[in-house]
Amino acid sequence: MRFDQRHLLGIEPLRPDEITTLLDLSDRYVTLNKRRDKHASVLSGLTQINMFFENSTRTQASFEIAGKRLGADVMNMAMQASSIKKGETLIDTALTLNAMHPDLLVVRHPQSGAVDLLAQKVNCAVINAGDGRHEHPTQALLDALTIRRAKGRLHRLKIAICGDIAHSRVARSNILLLGKMENRVRLIGPPTLMPSQIADFGVEVFHDMEQGLRDADVVMMLRLQRERMDGGFIPSEREYFHRYGLNAKKLALAHPDAIVMHPGPMNRGVEIDGTLADDINRSVIQEQVEMGVAVRMAAMDILARNLRASPKEVMV
Ligand code: NCD
Repeated sequence: MRFDQRHLLGIEPLRPDEITTLLDLSDRYVTLNKRRDKHASVLSGLTQINMFFENSTRTQASFEIAGKRLGADVMNMAMQASSIKKGETLIDTALTLNAMHPDLLVVRHPQSGAVDLLAQKVNCAVINAGDGRHEHPTQALLDALTIRRAKGRLHRLKIAICGDIAHSRVARSNILLLGKMENRVRLIGPPTLMPSQIADFGVEVFHDMEQGLRDADVVMMLRLQRERMDGGFIPSEREYFHRYGLNAKKLALAHPDAIVMHPGPMNRGVEIDGTLADDINRSVIQEQVEMGVAVRMAAMDILARNLRASPKEVMV
């Protein structure tokens, strides 16, 4: 088992075998999490600090549960919007925390690249829990684990990612991961929500949802990220649902066994029909949340092993 990274900042630097290593270890944690006693001690004696400069429900909760199940001392910092002003503020915060000798820092930040910057300033392992529109590696890994368990493989699948691609770090990390594992990725969305040059990532782009969904094995819906929009990207929510919202009729165009995914939080009736989201025969949205805890346990376990293997150098 090899995993040569000191941090988990994105999917981009990972090799396919490192992704497989993480997913295999995650599978073991899925089993542990189904037991009554969910404790392991692989992070015992280590300090994990969660710094979320942006709102989060499931990601923050699952990192906290993951750390506690593995025996870490977990601390959640309350990062108010007021502390997100300048680059200096972030670095100062990082240096202050660094002086408390944490072992794992889990960071979410609204600016792309902020977590990479922070990782250069501290001497512990850093996990990116989402930075701006850049990357959200643990989300892509939990999505991959969900797909692999539902489909029995993680290669040669047709995966349609639909919605607000332009503002989505989830889409970016998924495109990178699914591409590395040799799947066919299709992106579906209006031209206003599709980044320019996206075809360079080796994906197929569709503006017509019916065409894009045809024979897809996996349909991954994304939230309209209104907080990252500064103007009229869509005509109206009603019109958007009509053209790009997923309902049972449109899903019928995909493969009969196609699974429906959504990273949450969902806007029911905007990007996905609420009844379909709750249909346990098609939707794996709850499994995604379950896999999230296991993937975060695996990521922290593996980074902690690397910490132990290479003792901290002294920073002056
Ligand atoms: C995503 C995020 O924050 O990037 N949510 C999540 O982590 N579960 C997607 C989103 O906010 O739409």
